[in-house]
Amino acid sequence: MAKRVFSGARPTGRQHIGNYFGHIMNLIALQEEYECFDCVVDLHALTTVESTASLQQDINDMVLDWLAAGVDPEKSVVFVQSHVPEITELHLLLSMVTPLNWLLRVPTFKEKVRMHPENVNYGLVGYPVLMTSDIVLYKGEMVPVGEDQLPHLELAREIVRRFNSMYGDVFPEPAAKLTQFPMIVGLDGTGKMSKSADNHLEIASTPDEIRRKVSTAFTDPARKRRADIGHPEVCNVYTLHKMFTPGRVQEIGSECRVAGIGCVDCKKLLAQGIVDYFGPFRERRLELQSRPEYVREVVGHGAERASRVARETLREVKAAMNLLP
Ligand code: TRP
Repeated sequence: MAKRVFSGARPTGRQHIGNYFGHIMNLIALQEEYECFDCVVDLHALTTVESTASLQQDINDMVLDWLAAGVDPEKSVVFVQSHVPEITELHLLLSMVTPLNWLLRVPTFKEKVRMHPENVNYGLVGYPVLMTSDIVLYKGEMVPVGEDQLPHLELAREIVRRFNSMYGDVFPEPAAKLTQFPMIVGLDGTGKMSKSADNHLEIASTPDEIRRKVSTAFTDPARKRRADIGHPEVCNVYTLHKMFTPGRVQEIGSECRVAGIGCVDCKKLLAQGIVDYFGPFRERRLELQSRPEYVREVVGHGAERASRVARETLREVKAAMNLLP
């Protein structure tokens, strides 16, 4: 049997190229080898969200991008967390075996308390318990995550060990699979590409939008005039060339170093590379978009498949805990 992989992503709407290389490409590769559960964690979004007005739209846009990029709903179970209500019951049960001090020392929790002291809700403290519930409800063995999620995964393993030692071996201990990919820097060159920093480029952008956005990207800050020589190793645009114009990246690098090519032309080349790269994706997305029910059908089918596993796991859990008459 292929190992079961569980991956969770918050509903962040239309995906940007950071999401694409960090998450979507991974889902596409893993589905060839493993039994994948690709979950949109809408309940996790509620721990920090200010309004849910755009929640359904965000879920739809994200799943549409996944599918158009090549996530195959026949191979992977693509679903939305809250559509399988067993998650809430398991979350409660696991909360009973999770010491509060384990949760209070989680780095992401401390960070959020520091950033938003006015919004420290009960659900936020339990975030890692909900995440653990996601993984083990589907008996996930492998969890692809970025480095920032490793403490959560360690906690998940501790909760599993504790549950298993109290009630018997019900859950496999999930292993983190560290996703390694070059960090995609935002177009403003300041940090990781993210929607919240508004320095992102959406993969479903039109060619014109791509050209316009890329033209605003920051390049090597030391290169102030066209005649100045550039330093591709510190240039954000050059990093993107590695991904989108791999065939010309060497040439572009050497030209930049001798001021043979200017930033404006370099960015035009990059924009064209990105336009070409996502061409087939845009076509497929338009095709899928023309069937407004499509995403709903996919996640409906996903929820059915996920529910079968969830019901069985929850029955085992309750039997182990002596909750069944
Ligand atoms: N915490 C993860 C993130 O912010 C999202 C997530 C929720 C998740 N449940 C999960 C990731 C289960 C992996 C497995 O990225």
